[in-house]
Formats: sequence, C-alpha cells, structure tokens
Amino acid sequence: MKYGYFDDEHREYVITRPDTPLPWINYLGCEEYFGIISNTAGGYSFYKDARLQRLTRYRYNNAPLDVGGRYIYLREDGNPLYPDRPLFWSPTWQPTRQQLDRYECRHGLGYTTIRSTLGGIESSIRYFIPLGESLEIWELTLVNQRDQPASLSVFPAVEFCLWDALDDAANFQRNYSIGEVEVVDGVIYHKTEYRERRNHFAYFACSEEPAGFETQREAFLGPYRGWDSPAAVVAGGLSNSIAHGWQPIAAQHIRVQLNPGERHKIVFLLGYGENPAGDKFDPPGSQTLNKRRVVPVIQRYLRQDEVEKSFQALRAYWDGLVGKLQVTSPDIHTDHMVNIWNVYQVMATFNFSRSASYFESGIGRGMGFRDSNQDLLGFVHLVPERARQRILDLAATQLPSGGAYHQYQPLTKRGNNDVGGGFNDDPLWLVLSVAAYIKETGDWELLDEPAVYDNQPGTEQPLYNHLQRSIQYILDRLGPHGLPLIGRADWNDCLNLNCFSDTPGQSFQTTTNKDGKVAESVFIAGLFVLVAKELVEIAAKRQSFAEADTIGNAAAEMEKAVWAAGWDGEWFRRAYDDFGDPIGSRQCQEGQIFIEPQGICVMAGLGVENGRARQALDSVYTRLATSHGIVLQQPAYSQYYLHLGEISSYPPGYKENAGIFCHTNPWIMIAEAMIGRGDRAYDYYLRINPSAREEIGDLHRCEPYVYAQMIAGRDAPTHGEAKNSWLTGTAAWNYVAISQWILGIRPTYDGLEIAPVIPVAWDGFDAVRIYRGVRYNIHVVRKGPGNQAHLIVDGQAIQGTVINISPKDTSEVQVSVYIS
Ligand code: BGC
Ligand code: NOJ
Repeated sequence: MKYGYFDDEHREYVITRPDTPLPWINYLGCEEYFGIISNTAGGYSFYKDARLQRLTRYRYNNAPLDVGGRYIYLREDGNPLYPDRPLFWSPTWQPTRQQLDRYECRHGLGYTTIRSTLGGIESSIRYFIPLGESLEIWELTLVNQRDQPASLSVFPAVEFCLWDALDDAANFQRNYSIGEVEVVDGVIYHKTEYRERRNHFAYFACSEEPAGFETQREAFLGPYRGWDSPAAVVAGGLSNSIAHGWQPIAAQHIRVQLNPGERHKIVFLLGYGENPAGDKFDPPGSQTLNKRRVVPVIQRYLRQDEVEKSFQALRAYWDGLVGKLQVTSPDIHTDHMVNIWNVYQVMATFNFSRSASYFESGIGRGMGFRDSNQDLLGFVHLVPERARQRILDLAATQLPSGGAYHQYQPLTKRGNNDVGGGFNDDPLWLVLSVAAYIKETGDWELLDEPAVYDNQPGTEQPLYNHLQRSIQYILDRLGPHGLPLIGRADWNDCLNLNCFSDTPGQSFQTTTNKDGKVAESVFIAGLFVLVAKELVEIAAKRQSFAEADTIGNAAAEMEKAVWAAGWDGEWFRRAYDDFGDPIGSRQCQEGQIFIEPQGICVMAGLGVENGRARQALDSVYTRLATSHGIVLQQPAYSQYYLHLGEISSYPPGYKENAGIFCHTNPWIMIAEAMIGRGDRAYDYYLRINPSAREEIGDLHRCEPYVYAQMIAGRDAPTHGEAKNSWLTGTAAWNYVAISQWILGIRPTYDGLEIAPVIPVAWDGFDAVRIYRGVRYNIHVVRKGPGNQAHLIVDGQAIQGTVINISPKDTSEVQVSVYIS
C-alpha cells in the first residue's frame, strides 16, 4: 500500500492521505532556526538547540499521535446557511481530524505545503524558513470554489515552550507561574524568563489586523478541552487574554470574506528574536521588551513579495546543493535517493546529529562525536565551509588524551558526559571526516588550523596533532590479544562489555563496573587499520615519511593481531569479553557472527588479497542477509547477559540485538564493491532503499523518502517494520556506498576517481559531479561483464581511474568511462 508518490520534477514527496502509519516528517530550516513538521502540520521549532531553546511545544509519545504543531483552524461563520457542513476544521487534518474532501501534503527540500479542500473552500499552507533568518513563514492561500460568497474565520495557533524543553516537561511547580507575553500592534511576543537571564524571545505575527487574540491556553481551548475542539473556535471569537503563568500560546482571529472564485493570501510568522544584554528593554529601565530590532524583520516578511522572493531563494539554494551530484541510472530508486532524498537526509543529520526527530525527543542527545564525524562523510561536498567548521568544533571537544566526549550540546559547543564517555572508537572517526574533507576540497591547510583540547583556551594545537593523538589513544590501550580495548563500547553503543549492570533503569551508557583492561574490540582494530592507512597517506603527502612509516607499522601490527585473534575461520570475530572469551565466534551459543567487523575489516583491506574478505562476506550473505536488509548479528540474544550489556536488553530482532541496523549495511555494500561484486552490493543497496520499499508502506511504516536507523530483523514478529527514521548514520554511509563505491565517483587526494562497480545488468549511467569547482560530465557505458574501468577524459585516454586535478581555469570536463 502506498500513501503517496515521488514528484521528481519538483523534488517533492507527495502524501495523498493524512493518516500515514506514523507521522511522516520533514525539516524546515538550514542554518540556525529549525523546525520539524509532519504531513499534518505537527511538530515544533527551535533555535540552534532543540533542548535549550525550544520555541513551541510538542507532545512525544502521545495519543493521538503527533500533537502540538503549526495549526490553523477554519471556521464557517455563515454556517447556519450550510447546516450540512462542519462548523470548523483543520485544513491540515490535525488536530480536528475532520474528514477533508481533498488532501495533499508536499514535503520539499526545506519546505512543506499542505493543501486541502472542504465544502468548496480550498486552502494551501506553505511552511518554510527563509535563508539567513530566525523565523518561519506560514503562507496561507484560501480560494472560494463555491458559487456563493463565503464568510470565514481563520484561527492560527501555537503553544509556546518555556525554552528548556526538558524543564518544560517536568518542572510544573515553577513553570506554571513564569509565563509572560506582550501583545503590541497585533504581534504576540512570548517573553518568559526575559525579565531575568534570557535575552531572547519568540513572536507570532500576521499580515492582517487580527480581530482578536488569545495568549492563555485555557482561554482558547476552554477548560478540559483539547486542540481538536477549541472552545474559542466553536464560539467564533477570542477574548484578548494576556497570559500570566500557566501555558502561554499565540492564537489569532482573522475574518475573511471571499466572493465566488476569490483567492486570498495571509502570511503568518513565528520567529525568534534576541537583544544584547544591555539593550533588552525599551525604554531602558522598564520591563518592556525592546522590539526595535525585530519589528523591521517582521514587517519585511509579512509582505507577500518578500515571502515569494525568499521562497525562490530557498529553492535556488537547494538546487545548487543537490546539483553537486546528479545521476541518471537505470534504476529510479537510485535516482530518487542520490539526486534528492539521501543527500537531503545527509543535511538533516549534519544539522541535528541525533538530537531532534520524531524518534529523538530533542532533549536526550546533542551532537554526537562519532555520529557527526560519520555524518560529514556524506556532507563534505555540500557546504565545505560548514564541514570545516564542524570538524574544528568537534576537535575542540577532544580530550588531551586523544579520547573524546561522546557528545556536545550545540548551543555551548562544549563536550559533556551526559550520554557517557570512553567509547574507545570515538576519536578514530575524526580522522575519517578530515580525510574526506581534504579529498573533497584539497584544503590541506585545515591540518594546520589550531584547535583546543577539551574547550580549554591555551591548549591549541594544529588539527593534525589531534589526529595523531586519536591514533595514539588506541595504541595506548591495547588488550591481552594486542587488540584495542573496547572501553564503554565501540560503534555498537550497546555492546557494553565493562558495564555489568544488574540494577533496573541504570544507564548502560554511563555505568561501569569493570576496570576495562580485558575486553577488546575487533571492530576498533579494523577501524584502526582503515584510519591508519588514511593517516599514512596524509603524512606522506605532508612529506612526513618517517611518521608515515611508524603509523604504517602500527597498522601492520594491528592486522597481525586481527589475524591471530580476530579471525574465526569463516568470518571476523566481534570482540573479547571481560573474561577473555570471544564474542561473534562459532564457539558462542548466541551472537556467533556480527556484521560490523565483516564490513569494517574488509573496508580496511583485510583479507582482500587472501580470499578471507570474500569468505567473510559470504558468511554475511548466508547467515545475516534477509529480504529486508542485513541483520546485525545471529543468533539473536534470547536473554539478558550481564557481561554483554544493552545489546541483550532488546527483545530479539530489534535494534542492536539482531535488528537490521541499517547504518551497517552500506559497509557491506562497500566491502562487496571492493571485492568486485557489484550485483551483491547493489542487491543489498535496494533491500533497504526507502524508495524501493514504498510499495510495502504498511509494513515499513516510516517515510519512504528517508532511511530509518532500524528495520526489525527476522527474529522480531514485525520483521520489515522500520523505526527511528531520519537521524541515523545510515544516511551518510548509504550515500557514500552508492555514490562512491557502486557508482564509483570518488574524491581522492589527487583528483576525482571514477571506478564503478555496478550490476552486470546495467548498461551504464550518466552523472554530473561538481568537484573542486569543476563540472564533470560523466558518461559510463558497460561493454563487458567485469569492473575494469577505462577513462577517456576530454577525448584523451588516461592511465588508471583517477582524473588529475584540472588546471585553474577549467570549468567543465567530459569523461567517458568504458567498463569491460
Ligand atoms: C540505542 C543505541 C544508541 C544509544 C545512544 C541505545 O539505547 O540502542 O542505538 O546509540 O542508545 O545512547
Ligand atoms: C546509534 C548511535 O547514534 C550511533 O552512534 C551508534 O553507533 C549506533 N546507534 C549503534 O549502537
């Protein structure tokens, strides 16, 4: 069953019924002001930080689903004339859920438009955030399709969050007494805590003079009533309440008379404003909010021409971004994801890490160190300047030991241990993101940029020093088999081998009961080899040959350790536990084979020469692959094991306990491509590709345009059901797998490489890639069944598959690739 379709021309996903299995969301905003919006206008907004500066309320885990949003109510003021029509409805379906005659939601890149018709009143609301501004626009267009005049009332409404979303949901004894607003010239200003230490506020404005407003929630809804049936909407008028304490909202009343066929536009703004600490009040010394800075902004965006201009600018911005790589392949699902949705999701993961989605509450986690570094792998070509800044921000949270905080809060940019620390793989990912950035940009100077440790002024060292310490951190922590000690956990946050928690509710991510001197990770060993090889190349490019040798030797030693203790006979082992026993071995009763080391070790080149890579990947195929994707491990853990931690806390088939943890699947695709098996790589690619799963929407349930973190594995009763869409490393890694390894368009230090490993059945593909300012027009033709690529660059055959960096004034390069 499908709930919509892809409109490729407009780069939109069109949802054709409101009752999707779960709210299907989109993101508004690209820079600092952001919002989540569902296909029925649910969601919330925040400035920079989803936890600390949340503008509006949203009720997670609520019944019904998806409550709290950007709501507009339409009311039929002439209703007595049409007694068979509803008195009021939501043109976005929620929150009234009144049956609509027509409904359509278009999620586009950075905007959402919801259109509907009821009883001959057509409405369309376009929601977006103009580039460079900290406000969102809701542009409502009403059309009277009746043959009689219509008398309508329009009521927009939002509920303000008292900024800190966690406190807002918990500290009622205080919060019920602190709400404050001002209403001036029809604009509602939310200024809770502005009187004391905050210097920011929110506002809601409308392009028309409101007939009334409400700022106290109860005055709008009425006692014991919900958003589905506000008493004030039923009554058809607002009482101009001024909130003091309780729950501040912004609701307005706009009356509209429409002749037959008449169209009418109204612009609403929800925004965030800030004043310097010394200039908060106007006049100084009063308690009145200084509005001098914000009023001109409000006035500007209430004008329809400005709205249209800023919308077109947003469209152009996204055209430019997605235009950096466009492909025309024989497969529509590849094209959907590569050209539009996967790259769009990469932007979301770059912006939000794992903080704010329908599944991430915005209060649990900030920016992950491991997560953000991986997200950069798919992002570096999009906005390199922002990637550069992110790398430096991440490095500035690194600890002097080379270890890392697991996350930092975006507002403060300071690392913290709120969601644990001592994940021993963390620092290695920094090397991968830096390598990806340099390969994309050629900006070697980044390595000389000073970056502090642990945010401490005075500890500045060149970024390169951070990479060196990342490597050293692992070498300083080797275990009994010469493999890296795992610490709290490695990539698999739930393989908590030093935790040993028997206390209900204790966090697996912060509890440690062992000294951590025994449990080792084969995964980190593989990652170390991969990362060390990058660093060897980087060191050699910097003419530090001695250092390149030292790191190369360390990588060789690590490889030896893997072959000595990390190879199980048919696949790579996963780890050693605190008793020194192997995990992910045929000796184990459960958890005999894990996906992660098969992917990472082969990506690091282990076993590619001696056939073991092929053997490991064949084991993945026979033991882990399902038609919905590759599960994380098998057999699933059937009970809780004290010495394994959170992984065994999940029922079999979910999450790390043998779910299809989609993030890891592209590692296997890349590994398959590396050993030349394009059909296998591509087959895996399609199994989890959301567009390819669109037809099974009732089973998959999450959005068909973005990847989910997890699809339930074969041990779960719900095998094939997706959860945790949007914010997952799956986005960046799938983008890398398809674009760099299957299509084979791969940045290197020396130029763009084109080495496709595509399915045998493909007769080729076309692509345009903007790389270091040059447009590469790539035409790939298959002439034989293998993967040998022959490149003709501007009419000249070249040696190998890397196209040298073009001379400065080159704007376009034509590349023909023959595969034999
Ligand atoms: C999840 C992991 C996640 C971790 C983050 C766990 O409950 O299963 O996927 O990485 O929490 O703290
Ligand atoms: C989700 C986390 O965001 C990521 O960092 C981790 O690697 C995976 N879960 C696996 O546990």
